[in-house]
Order: sequence, then C-alpha cells, then structure tokens
Amino acid sequence: MRFEPATRLTGTLVPPPDKSISHRAALLGAMSSYPTRISNYLDAADTRSTLAAVSKLGALVQTRESRDGALEVIVRGTGLREALEPKEPIDVGNAGTLLRLLPGWLAAQRGRTYTLDGDESIRRRPVDRVMVPLQQMGATLQAREGRLPPLTITGARLRAISYELPVASAQVKSCVLLAALTADGATTVGEPSASRDHTERMLRRAGVKIHRFGHHVTVVNADELVLEAVEVPADASSAAFMVTAGLIVPGSRLLIKDVGVNWTRTGFLEIVRRMGGIVLGEMESAGSDLASHEPVSDLDVAAGPLAASTVEPEEVPLAIDELPLVALLGCFAEGETVVRGAAELRLKESDRIATVVDGLSGLGADIEAMSDGFVVRGKGGLRGGVIDAGGDHRIAMMGAIAGLASWEGVLVRGVEAAAISYPGFVEDLQRLVRR
Ligand code: S3P
Repeated sequence: MRFEPATRLTGTLVPPPDKSISHRAALLGAMSSYPTRISNYLDAADTRSTLAAVSKLGALVQTRESRDGALEVIVRGTGLREALEPKEPIDVGNAGTLLRLLPGWLAAQRGRTYTLDGDESIRRRPVDRVMVPLQQMGATLQAREGRLPPLTITGARLRAISYELPVASAQVKSCVLLAALTADGATTVGEPSASRDHTERMLRRAGVKIHRFGHHVTVVNADELVLEAVEVPADASSAAFMVTAGLIVPGSRLLIKDVGVNWTRTGFLEIVRRMGGIVLGEMESAGSDLASHEPVSDLDVAAGPLAASTVEPEEVPLAIDELPLVALLGCFAEGETVVRGAAELRLKESDRIATVVDGLSGLGADIEAMSDGFVVRGKGGLRGGVIDAGGDHRIAMMGAIAGLASWEGVLVRGVEAAAISYPGFVEDLQRLVRR
C-alpha cells in the first residue's frame, strides 16, 4: 500500500486497546476463581491467540464486539491449579507475550504437560529466558536447541525463589510472578532497570500481596485470584505512531484520547519532550509507587521543529516498542539521535535494529546500526521509497507514517502486519490525513 505525503493531520482519535494489558487480563481471568469482565479488550491477532489459548486450558470465554477493534470479554477461570491438559500444542501465533507469560501459569499444573508453538517469527524468539527461572522453581521445560519454540512445560510443586533478571524484561518478570502465585513462599524478582508493571498492578487488584522496592518485586503465594472487572485503556504504543505522525507532518494537530499513561510505558513521550516535540497530557510521575490501577490521559499533539537526543540504556525498557519511532523522529530532527543499550531489539518480532536501519536507509535516511542500537543524522526530512514490513507490525506502521511525512511517498510491502496490534490502523490514518 502506498502512503503519499500529507498536507497535515488533524482530528481526534481513540487508539486501540492496550495489547499488554489485554493479554494479562485474559490470563489472570483464566487463573481466577470467579468470572472476570474485561471491557475494551483488544480485538487483534495477538490477543485473539490468548483467548484461544485460555479456552483450550479450560477457561470459558464469552466475547461481544463493543466498538471497532475492541471486545467485551467475560472469562470464567479454572483457578490457579486446575488448567486442563489439551492433547494438541497450544498455538501462540505471533504473540511473544503469550509465549513468555503462559509458562508461568502452566509450571504450576502438577504432572501435566503442555507444548507452546507459533508462527515462523515466534520460532525465532528465545524462551531460555523463562526456562531458567521456572526450572529453578522446580518445573521441567524443554525447547528446540534448548532455547527456541516449540516449548514443552511439565508442571510441578513450585519452590519460591529469588531471581535477578540479566536483562530488564516485563515478559520474563511477569512469567516468574505468575509462577510465584503457587510457590511455597514469597518470591522476589529483580531487574537491572524498570520495565512495564501491568502484571504487578493487576495482581494487586486481584488481591495478591505484592510489593516493589526499587527494582525488586516480591509476591507472596495466593490461594486464589479475584479480579472481577478490568477496563483496558488505549495502547500507548499504538498511540505513539499517531503521535509521531502529528509531530513530523508540518501543521498537524491531533487529540489522542484515553491513552494509558502508566509511567513504565511513557518513556517515548519523555524522549519526544526532550526532542522539543509538543505533546500535552497528564502523565504519571516516573518512579511512582506500585499502583493497582492504570492511569489514562488525552494527548494533545502539535507539529514543530525537533532536536536530536540520546536515549540512555535505562530508558530503553520504558520505550522498547517505540524505538523504531525514535529513529524516524531522528530523521526529522536537527543533529544526531543515538539509541544505545537496546540489543533486545534484535529479539523482537523482527531484528528491529536491522529492519529499522535497512528500512529507513531505503527511504533515504542517514542511519547506522550498532550492535546495541543505532545512530541517525537528521536531514530535516525523508525522501521516501519502498519498505518491506517483513511481517513485523511495528515496521509496517513506521513505514506508513514515514510515507505521510516524506517528500515522495512510501510504498509499504506487507502493511497488513499492522493488524497484529492495530487492526484499524490504515482507516484511522486515512481519517486524519488532509491532502
Ligand atoms: C511486553 C514486554 C516487552 C515488549 C512487548 C510486550 C509485555 O517485551 O517489547 O511488546 O507485554 O510484557 P520484553 O519484556 O521481553 O522486553
């Protein structure tokens, strides 16, 4: 699909429901002993995989379409220890979050065995990062070459552990926290720097004893979860694509509504502010104590000049999925934009250091890859050309936004990948674009 240069973008938009929170609501709902009502659940490929997975494990799932791209879901869970043992493998599709979180629950299903598998991209996503702590807790896990899906888990009586994550990862942290619910005491997980804390907040909401001290989280085992109702805010990562469009297409002014502004998700907006981008909203202050709710805000975005910035390693987990957009902003900013300490990008839906650098170079950007990031020298704009999404939703959407702000337009090959996290992406953009 071609994305032609836009004169400007104006209007109001509600981005799709948050993907991370939707996955967690379905999983925790399935682990609960009472029905959970989830409003504004993301109706996209990844989060459909989670509903299918928990159904296979014995949860009863009822869905109703609420607005485009969103579902009302009721999950009647099996409780913490009563997941069924399906005969066939569980298909996680393209969902890395499901692949990493679900084993935390399955590890507690004593004597029962489960296999997780998915698409071609999921088969390249490492799972040894969750195997190590779950094995320490007493579960048995096996993977292809010891680190890639398919992943087989046999549940056991779990021991509480103290575990230090080698790299900050909300997925791995969440996996250990879910397993900890059925362990024989209190489990502590530490990370080198903060990562998104949706699991911790939702567990607190579900009545679990959970505390954070600096970068350590301690959770006490629980008899049951009682989640009742979850309202999913709009996804800050999906919003970031529209924020970027609003910043780099001259003359734009956008109001983006109901966005989740949990401080562990707003690292991108901090970087944008440092670059001089205008985004007004009520943010949660960084480093806030562990809450049990998810704050929301409207974001008011206006285009204007941008200055280059350096993203430090400890900011990376707070903006991990938005770093491709930092590269795109860098093309329009004055000076050299640098992202370091982001080697994790190589392990996402694609090798996002390679796909961002190759993709933007092909559109005329002056960008260079490093082992753990990239350097972009801003040229005040982007020529345009052709970019291949390579099946990665965020690369597809980055290409489309680049097209609107480019001089010659961009042809995105495989734009349909956007549906993994943002089903109505193209339609939403078309509504905002003025020519
Ligand atoms: C996610 C955590 C991040 C992020 C992914 C979603 C989550 O991965 O990149 O898109 O929902 O926990 P890591 O925690 O592995 O960095």
